[in-house]
Amino acid sequence: MPRVEFVGHGWVDATSGQTLLDVCDSYALPMETACGGFAACNSCRVRLVSGSLSALDESEAPFLDRADQRLGCQARVVGECVVAFDPG
Ligand code: FES
Repeated sequence: MPRVEFVGHGWVDATSGQTLLDVCDSYALPMETACGGFAACNSCRVRLVSGSLSALDESEAPFLDRADQRLGCQARVVGECVVAFDPG
């Protein structure tokens, strides 16, 4: 079971293939979701500090300024990683 650290909030257990948004919902972590998780609002944007996530979905690209940013509603857990809510 991969673990994810949300900077400032500690480590949580996740399931491979679970979106970061779903992980946050499971643990009541404060990920914003203005569009409800449909890659339409950018409010869930996070920064991958270390580790890796699923391959970039083309729906995310218009919302990202940097290579280390992802949309939490689209990026899926593939292994241990560290994520910051501050997109940088
Ligand atoms: S929740 Fe709106 S883009 Fe992710």
